[in-house]
Amino acid sequence: MTQKEQTGTSSETLFVGIDLGTSRSSITASNERTAWIESYVGWPKDFISARVLGKQVMFGAEALEHRLSLEMCRPMDRGVIKEGIDRSEDAVKEIIQELIRLVSPNPGQQIKAIVGVPADTMKVNKLAIRKAVKDYVHSIMVVSEPFAVAYSMDLLDNAFIIDIGAGTVDFCIMHGTMPDENDQKTITTAGDYVDDQLFSLMTEKYPRSRFTKNMVRQFKERFSFVGEVSDEIQVELPLDGKPAPHDIKMEVKRACESILPAIIDTAADMISRFDPEFQAKIKNNIVLAGGGSGIRNLAAHIAHGLKDYGQCTVVTVDDPLFAGSIGGLKLAQDMPKNYWEEL
Ligand SMILES: Nc1ncnc2c1ncn2[C@@H]1O[C@H](COP(=O)(O)OP(=O)(O)OP(=O)(O)O)[C@@H](O)[C@H]1O
Ligand SMILES: [Mg+2]
Repeated sequence: MTQKEQTGTSSETLFVGIDLGTSRSSITASNERTAWIESYVGWPKDFISARVLGKQVMFGAEALEHRLSLEMCRPMDRGVIKEGIDRSEDAVKEIIQELIRLVSPNPGQQIKAIVGVPADTMKVNKLAIRKAVKDYVHSIMVVSEPFAVAYSMDLLDNAFIIDIGAGTVDFCIMHGTMPDENDQKTITTAGDYVDDQLFSLMTEKYPRSRFTKNMVRQFKERFSFVGEVSDEIQVELPLDGKPAPHDIKMEVKRACESILPAIIDTAADMISRFDPEFQAKIKNNIVLAGGGSGIRNLAAHIAHGLKDYGQCTVVTVDDPLFAGSIGGLKLAQDMPKNYWEEL
């Protein structure tokens, strides 16, 4: 029996904001509980692994740790649910079910969820998400991720959100109404792209050393920067089987800087197409969100890259992991009835 079938007796409602991300998914609920998991799902490969692991499904870091005994699935690719390929649709269902379980709804509670997805993929994702959540959620509205972030910060007018995730960078201009297609854009050179770049640059420089994509991502998250920083960046990697220090500073810099041109060009293009009377206001209210906003010096470099278009102010959101789901929850609590879709 699904969770939704077990509920439905009480009129009490649990509102939730869900940020369904390529690398991490988070939930913020009106009962003040929050949770997040990495968007990886693993099912035991056979009955032996099911017995050894003692679980029917695993998520995130725990799944990665046991990946040899699991059928693994990362269901989102560049912000889109991979439909019809492997078990992605099942995996999204598992993630939604797990997130809702983690915020412990009371038996009988109606669940109303706002789900944030990348701006450009709203049409494709809406159907897939509806399918994925219908067993666990009673009403839904799908919104773009950067809009949810803007809502969390009360930035509803004259603001420009740039959400740098794993699969996508999402741009959204807020001008006092619900943003439409013209106000939003998505590009796919984001965190995963930086990982690929760093992996290639390190492979080129240290062809005899051994490291994995997962290790490279961890190095990036620890040391990421653009421009100049004074610290040395050295990591220990096995070279011919023996641990040895490796300098990766220039590689980290180049990999992180590889996403700057597309971000600056897209931002400049969106600003220049906006009503000229309001451009200055928007340029002075640029907010970076998403895990990629943790790259050191990023805000200053984006401001510098946009300087030809006049004075700019770029700031970084306080809580990149939860900003989207906090905004989703706030929206869910404010949203008039007619915006909801009943499932
Ligand atoms: N300090 C950091 N410096 C650089 N990148 C970071 C840092 N911390 C996290 N990241 C990267 O941010 C990305 C995850 O961000 P986020 O959780 O916002 O993405 P997501 O919502 O899962 O993806 P998407 O929005 O594309 O679906 C990953 O690529 C991760 O490696
Ligand atoms: Mg995201």
